[in-house]
Amino acid sequence: MRGFPQVYRSIFAQPILLILLFSGQLVAAEKEDIIAIETKIADLISRMTVAEKIGQMTQVNGAEGSIPKRLNEAVKVGRIGSVLNEVHIETVNELQRIAVEESRLGIPLLIGRDVIHGFKTVLPIPLGQAASFDPELVRRGARMAAQEAASAGINWAFAPMIDVTRDPRWGRIAESLGEDSYLTGVLGAAMVEGFQGDDLALPGAIASCPKHFAGYGASESGRDYNTTNIPENELRNVYLPPFKAAIDAGAQTLMASFSDLNGVPATGNRFLMKQVLRDEWQFDGFVVSDWASIEQLSIHGFTANDRESAFAAFTAGVNMEMATSTYANHLPGFLEAGRVNVEQLDALVADILRVKIRLGLFENPYTDPGQFPPIANPGHLEIARQAALESIVLLENRNRVLPLNIKSIKSLAVIGPMADDPYEQLGTWIFDGDISLSQTPLQAMREFVGDQAEISHVRVMAHTRTRSREGFAEAVKAAGAADAVVMFLGEESILSGEAHSRADISLPGNQAELVNAMHETGKPVIVVIQAGRPLTLQNILDKVDAVLFAWHPGTMGGPAINDILFGVESPSGKLPATFPRMVGQVPIYYAHKKTGKPPTPETYVHIDDIPIRQKQLSSGFVSHHLDAGFTPQYAFGYGLSYTEFSYSDIGVSDNEIPMGESVTVSARVSNTGMVEADEVVQLYVRDLVGNVTRPVRELKGFERVRLKPGESRRISFVLGPEDLAFFGQEMKLITEPGEFHVWIGGSSEAVLRSQFTLINPEAQNKEI
Ligand code: BGC
Repeated sequence: MRGFPQVYRSIFAQPILLILLFSGQLVAAEKEDIIAIETKIADLISRMTVAEKIGQMTQVNGAEGSIPKRLNEAVKVGRIGSVLNEVHIETVNELQRIAVEESRLGIPLLIGRDVIHGFKTVLPIPLGQAASFDPELVRRGARMAAQEAASAGINWAFAPMIDVTRDPRWGRIAESLGEDSYLTGVLGAAMVEGFQGDDLALPGAIASCPKHFAGYGASESGRDYNTTNIPENELRNVYLPPFKAAIDAGAQTLMASFSDLNGVPATGNRFLMKQVLRDEWQFDGFVVSDWASIEQLSIHGFTANDRESAFAAFTAGVNMEMATSTYANHLPGFLEAGRVNVEQLDALVADILRVKIRLGLFENPYTDPGQFPPIANPGHLEIARQAALESIVLLENRNRVLPLNIKSIKSLAVIGPMADDPYEQLGTWIFDGDISLSQTPLQAMREFVGDQAEISHVRVMAHTRTRSREGFAEAVKAAGAADAVVMFLGEESILSGEAHSRADISLPGNQAELVNAMHETGKPVIVVIQAGRPLTLQNILDKVDAVLFAWHPGTMGGPAINDILFGVESPSGKLPATFPRMVGQVPIYYAHKKTGKPPTPETYVHIDDIPIRQKQLSSGFVSHHLDAGFTPQYAFGYGLSYTEFSYSDIGVSDNEIPMGESVTVSARVSNTGMVEADEVVQLYVRDLVGNVTRPVRELKGFERVRLKPGESRRISFVLGPEDLAFFGQEMKLITEPGEFHVWIGGSSEAVLRSQFTLINPEAQNKEI
């Protein structure tokens, strides 16, 4: 491409731009925009030195409110393109001033931050938000977080985290949107839209960074940073689709994963970065490494030293290096030696400049906090409260012990370490979360109850890991004097999140014993759990009357939990990840394959019931665990309500659907109980025969609906060819003729089923 003018070189570097320019998809003004942006990029690149280009590819950590001399100098001479973890507005503006006014070319900085679930106002952890199955609410949450973060000068969020994970041991499941590819894609795209707003160049729009590309959620044994082995077919069918959805939603950047994918660490993985991301998906934004993940290529044993790590990441197409300086140290040498050429360098720099231009940073590099809505204003708190409300999942409710009736309950014992802990309810990754904003469950209950009932609070345990029995006697006394016991249990924030995986995912410390002690009082026991992951609850379930799972619900967790406890609102969260009975069942997920020997309730024999010296045949040669069976404790999509919903009258638009056309599936959902409530109506599909085996069910649609008692509504879902497609043996996205089953209901165990057949004998294995 040497003979081409610079502007065309930058367009050629991203075929998507060329395609768009000549496709007729764009109106003239949009084409002009592309040409204008690429012309600006080309102009800048033509004036940049190699050192300045590499500078754009370098991201350094901020100094939290100051600008050390080295940082000042580096920005001034154009050796830095981005700073992360600087949230002091004066410092951010000063850094931008140095970049824009004192550096030779005046290129503004990207200011990155982990805005994972809110900024000062903290939303439920992403796994909790996923339980809402409410993309619009998730989008509004990200919008609110973007506004608050932007007011501190941040223009780039390292979010959403869209690693599909089927392992609750993995601490970062808290940051994820759960086990399902489709749900993760829909909600991840909603977050991208929320962060980026309608127009990237407007104040309050910040670039998103879906992460970690790709496969990180499959870390072996749920141990963080561990190896991942994911066959390409599964990678394409399960782990990659959320990234594609996020890019289709306009995501401007991606973060490469720390993990080793099938022997090639993601940060040096050309298949991921070049073939999938650029060639197949035509991504025209940029990729940032994870923290020091380029340097770590040699620790993985993929490269011999930092120099080769820089080479591997650069040639794979990682545009920006986070935290370390292998690019700065080694790229000049590669250019001099001819190991890489300047066109390769320019293409990677162009991607970064493109995002900076789209963000409007050249026109508006500075932040005036006054132009944003105030932090934690009532609107923001309301979003956080609604998100917490919709995220809470009612797991058990024996004898309808919930909701508590304020008219008949005269005294409550509130027991446990999570009732009144403004910090622990916020969850992991809350660098900027303002603890003073937290409203705890105890505060909310006291306010709600007023003088209508007496509340006696005994924390008992200093934290969730406490092992002593100190305080048990006091708690027993309080329970004995109360009409009901509400226990606040769970995991502290630090027990989930990055590098905080657990091999035992039951309630830590003495919490199960505390439940036992409360059970023995004979009073109704209601347990509210705040945690960063699905937990195994077998050791408490037969001793409690109700279980509410509230995740780490964030700033407004208290009022949301209170509203559910007292029936101001009915619970409506649904599980975004399967809850195992025992940790040994992991990975256990609803969209599993059928196997050649599927289990049935009839063939299952519990380990204790196998006769001594029984013949080998005893358990029917099917796929199950002798001790845990084959079903989870709680299935994906499960969650109870204070009302009842019934499903009926499922139908398909036609029993035979020509390939390439859409089919509509609908069913009637009725509120047959006593209270108005939300229900998440879910659609599952099974392709009965595939040239690679297909999961027993896959979520393909959902809708949150609100129904009054006695009200019913027909809910329809349209399944297009892409919803019925999968990557087959040839790794191409195909649909095949044949039979499909569809279910509509309130969980992945929905029983109401219909079916249709895709027909078109001529178009076998049609690529879409
Ligand atoms: C995490 C990323 C995060 C980065 C910057 C890394 O340790 O894996 O998700 O964005 O740090 O804080």
